[in-house]
Amino acid sequence: MPRQLHSTVTDDGTIVLSIEEVDIPEPREDQVVIRVEAAPINPSDLGPMFGPADLRTVQQSGDGTDRTITAEIPERFRSMVQARVGVPVPIGNEGAGTVVAAGSSDAAQALLGKTVATLGGAMYAEMRLAPADQCLVLPDGVSAAEGASCFVNPLTTLGMVETMRLEGHTALVHTAAASNLGQMLVKLCLSDGVPLVNIVRRQEHVDLLRSLGATHVCNSSDDDFRERLTEAVAETDATIGFDATGGGTLASDILSAMEVVQNRKEGGGGRYGSTRHKQVYIYGGLDRSKTELDRSYGMAWAVGGWLLPYFLDRVGPERAQQLRERVAAEITTTFASSYTATVSLEEALSAEAVSVYGRQATGEKYLVDPTR
Ligand SMILES: NC(=O)c1ccc[n+]([C@@H]2O[C@H](COP(=O)([O-])OP(=O)(O)OC[C@H]3O[C@@H](n4cnc5c(N)ncnc54)[C@H](OP(=O)(O)O)[C@@H]3O)[C@@H](O)[C@H]2O)c1
Repeated sequence: MPRQLHSTVTDDGTIVLSIEEVDIPEPREDQVVIRVEAAPINPSDLGPMFGPADLRTVQQSGDGTDRTITAEIPERFRSMVQARVGVPVPIGNEGAGTVVAAGSSDAAQALLGKTVATLGGAMYAEMRLAPADQCLVLPDGVSAAEGASCFVNPLTTLGMVETMRLEGHTALVHTAAASNLGQMLVKLCLSDGVPLVNIVRRQEHVDLLRSLGATHVCNSSDDDFRERLTEAVAETDATIGFDATGGGTLASDILSAMEVVQNRKEGGGGRYGSTRHKQVYIYGGLDRSKTELDRSYGMAWAVGGWLLPYFLDRVGPERAQQLRERVAAEITTTFASSYTATVSLEEALSAEAVSVYGRQATGEKYLVDPTR
């Protein structure tokens, strides 16, 4: 039986990652079976994989199909995962592979033998049953590894730019901007002529984004970060930001910079601050500390959450399909991803591998190839 990677919370507050054999039923009329050949480990996978467990407590045991990884969930977070106790959760949000069986419908049959990408969980698996209409056929010559990250990060960058336009903004600010997603956003904004302010926390990432052609890159570790951010916001007139960190003062710093700029433009002195609406969406949780808002930006502002599936619901299936097609057409250029290592299901469950991909550091993304 095909093998699949599962994450289970035990009643003593441990998270256990294991490889389980699962039955894959015959595809129904409108379904296909994909032999998964590549699936990325993204920050959005680490949530279901490890929950709020402390990765410093990771332990590996067993070998081959019996290999497991365990990590302890601190007492104060255990209530968050109560509903998951004893329930194995298959993981891996997206990936790509070859269609090896198909139901009787024309749409399913048309996919037989094709390399496709899909989204929807349970991709760290040798085989994955998927609805035919949720498979994206990769262009000729594009491998499963090249197409594995077709959905989560590329569609999120497109979603950011589209949200910016839908909400009446013309330029945007992005944090943790040297991420895989951030590098795509730099390329997308360059090609679509959207002014972008990038925030990173290391000089080497300033250099990296500049080498991709980014104009505005601010380093949050610089002493004059807030001044430089304000200058960049002034030059772009950005009034919307997407923050992947979520914790600390970064969202607040962005709103403050926007407020200074908008106040200047309005001649200052408004009793309730500038009248221009300023928005920051928190779309990731890289920094687990509390979000600190000092509210020094008048009253025309908002901080909210942003999630790709909600955005896709907002724009509707037709627009979502157009965006997917753009991703497929530009998967080796604008939306290309790179990986530090390709690992088997077992290798993904090694303490050493977890210590690398669990850091969520720039350029340290892993790709799982369950056929290895
Ligand atoms: N809401 C959604 O629908 C959605 C969809 C897709 C992705 N996302 C989010 O997008 C973000 C990027 O994903 P990715 O796959 O592109 O990530 P990635 O390639 O793994 O890169 C992660 C980046 O985050 C930075 N980082 C890590 N911890 C940080 C911290 N505490 N403070 C500041 N920066 C930090 C790293 O920089 P250093 O090297 O300096 O550590 C690195 O550049 C993630 O937060 C993910 O959850 C959200």
